[in-house]
Order: sequence, then C-alpha cells, then structure tokens
Amino acid sequence: MKVLVTGGAGFIGSNFIHYWLKKYPKDQVFNVDALKYAGNLENLKDIEADPNYPFIKGDISKYDEIEPIFKKEIDIVVNFAAQSHVDRSLYDPYEFITTNIIGTKNLLELSTRYKVKKFHQVSTDEVFGDLALNSKDKFSERTLLKPSNEYSATKASAEMIVMAYNFTYKLPTTISNCTNNIGPNQYPEKLVPLAITNIMEGKKVPIYGSGKNVRDWLHVLDHCSAIDLVIKAGKVGERYMIGSDHEEISNIQLIKKILKIMKKDGDWMEFVTDRLGHDRKYAVDWSKIKKLGWKPKYKLDDSIRLTVDWYMKNEDWWKKIKSGEFRKHYEKVYGNR
Ligand code: NAD
Ligand code: DAU
Repeated sequence: MKVLVTGGAGFIGSNFIHYWLKKYPKDQVFNVDALKYAGNLENLKDIEADPNYPFIKGDISKYDEIEPIFKKEIDIVVNFAAQSHVDRSLYDPYEFITTNIIGTKNLLELSTRYKVKKFHQVSTDEVFGDLALNSKDKFSERTLLKPSNEYSATKASAEMIVMAYNFTYKLPTTISNCTNNIGPNQYPEKLVPLAITNIMEGKKVPIYGSGKNVRDWLHVLDHCSAIDLVIKAGKVGERYMIGSDHEEISNIQLIKKILKIMKKDGDWMEFVTDRLGHDRKYAVDWSKIKKLGWKPKYKLDDSIRLTVDWYMKNEDWWKKIKSGEFRKHYEKVYGNR
C-alpha cells in the first residue's frame, strides 16, 4: 500500500508516520511537507534513510508542485497539512485560507484525477464552535458546523469541500474530528508544551482569561490509532468524532497537574489577556467510532506525565525552536514577557 501523508513533519503527522510504519512495515509512506514553521524533519530523523519513507518538500497550496507525487500511484491520502494554531489565525489569517482551504482543494482534485482509493481529512472538534461552560451537551457527527475563528472556519470550509468531492465526484472520503492532542513533537506554541518548556526556562505559564475554559485532551497515539481505524473500517462519505474518556477539566486544572509533576506551585501560573473569540468548551461524543472498536489507551495523567518526560529529555529539540521564529510569535501574542 502507498500512503501519502501531508504535513508529516509536524506534530501529529510525524507521530502518525512512525505509528503507520511500525504497524504496517510493508507499506510505503510518502511525506509531503512544506516545512513551514512547525514542520521539523528532526521529528523523523530516525527513519530518514528508510526506503519506505520518501520525504518530498512540497506545498499543498501549489498544485503543480504536488502533482508529481500522485503519479506514484498513491492508494491513500491522509491530509494533516494545515496552519493549526488559533492565535496565529488572529494575526496571519491568509496563511490559513491558502493552506487549509486551497491546499485541501488541490489534494482533492488530484486524488480524484489519479483515482486514490481513500482520502482522509484530519479535522478538528473546533469546527462545531463552542459549548457553554455549564452545558452537558457534546458535539457529535450530527452537530452543525459553526466555527468561531479563522482557523476553525478554514478547517470547516475544507471539510465542506471534502464532502462535495465525495457527493459530486464519488471520491471515497472520510473525515475525523478530534479533540486536543498532547504528546511528543508538539510545537511549543500550544498550551501543554508551552507550559512545560516555560517552567523549565524559569518562566510562568500564561493562562488566558479566567482559565476556566475546557478542552478534551487525548494522547497523540490514540488519535493515530483512531485515524487508522477510520481509514480501514470507516464508512465512505462519513465523519467520526474522536475524543477522550477523562472527566471534564479546565485549563487551570490541567496546568495544576503539570505543575504538580514538575514540583511547582500555583504561583507559576500568570493570568493574561484573554484570546480574542476564545471558545469556552469542547466536548465530544465518540460513541460512533467506539462501535468500530476504538477507545483511547492512554489515561490523562499518563499522557501528561509522558509528555512532561519527553520535553524534559529533549531540551535540544525545543530550545532550538524557542530561540528561533517562535520568539516573534511569543512577542506578538504575549508581549515582552
Ligand atoms: P502542526 O502545526 O504541528 O503541523 C502542521 C504541518 O503541516 C507542519 O509540518 C507544516 O510544515 C505543514 N504544512 C503547513 N502548511 C503546509 C503547506 N501549505 N503544504 C504542506 N505542508 C504544510 O499541526 P498538528 O498539530 O500536527 O495538526 C495536524 C492536523 O491535525 C491539522 O490539520 C489540524 O487541524 C489537525 N488537528 C490537530 C489537533 C491538535 O490538537 N493539534 C487536534 C485535532 C485536529
Ligand atoms: O480541539 C482541537 C484543537 O486543539 C486543534 O484543532 C488545534 O489545531 C489545536 O491547536 C488545539 O486548539 P486550542 O486552541 O484548543 O489549543 P491551544 O493549545 O492553543 O489552547 C488550549 C487552551 O489553552 C485554550 O483554551 C487556550 C488556552 N491557552 C493557550 C495558550 C497557547 C492559554 O490559556 N494560554 C496559552 O498561552
């Protein structure tokens, strides 16, 4: 089987490539990545010489640049490539339109022309907007798309184009909508790696607004196994929610868990100006994928501990990042802290 992974040098894509090659060693996994700020080939250094892992530098928003890959008779496309950080969509939205919408459109067009057997769109629970903090509701496959920022709006747009290609051109597509991931290789702009690495640098953890916002946290390898199952056993033309089985947890409660592991007290949290349009709460009902036989393997506390361990053992990885492009982003979002 020939699998094309887009955005494979990023956080989830790189974990997925490792996951896939370990589980299906006879498959060939092509990784096309434009190596934007979050794309990091160090995430794949251990397999760079593997003939079953060809890397191609390419931008999915440039049709001609990625067409040659499709001539290699690709069976499955898994589209991870995206601009993925909400805060950046507030100050640089056009990058999101270009990659998340035009890029997905190009992949769909090429997948149709070159007759790929399955196109899987990696999407997010953010496309459904947010829930009230006291709500008992959960997003499900029947929830209407109602994105609230330009990141989620571009992911929702991409999904709609995926659905259009399935309906109109009969491209065999599936979509998955996952909650917040944690684990190794995550760019330290996101809350969990930012918290861990800030503490290691002797800096406080910036908490937006009241810190009462709720997210659902899943280990990245649980996300990978869920995508695998949807690709293999999911119904064509349908979507699947992917979520965790832990109790509802606020950002403050999550950070307190990290602080406890790192033997720090609550003074290491610093309340800062809220994110514009900050979604209050995400929660998903993943009973549909459960019926296919999936459930998360990692408990929340284990996922957090493993993630803290990884960042503690891989200082070189994140220090290089934090001393580069990241500094401009940090100043834009947090000022000169
Ligand atoms: P990431 O930002 O770590 O990685 C994105 C990757 O895409 C990078 O390697 C980057 O270089 C590449 N890329 C960006 N623009 C590109 C372009 N034009 N052409 C080719 N490659 C390009 O993101 P992530 O957190 O790994 O997220 C991967 C996917 O999963 C995204 O589609 C995101 O919407 C989705 N998702 C993420 C989460 C999460 O918690 N991180 C949860 C649910 C869904
Ligand atoms: O739900 C899935 C989504 O999860 C993915 O689609 C996105 O790609 C991914 O980035 C993530 O989005 P969030 O906005 O939820 O993740 P982030 O880590 O940026 O923020 C998590 C929560 O923490 C959110 O409520 C905002 C808050 N936060 C974040 C940062 C960076 C802070 O309080 N302080 C911070 O410095």
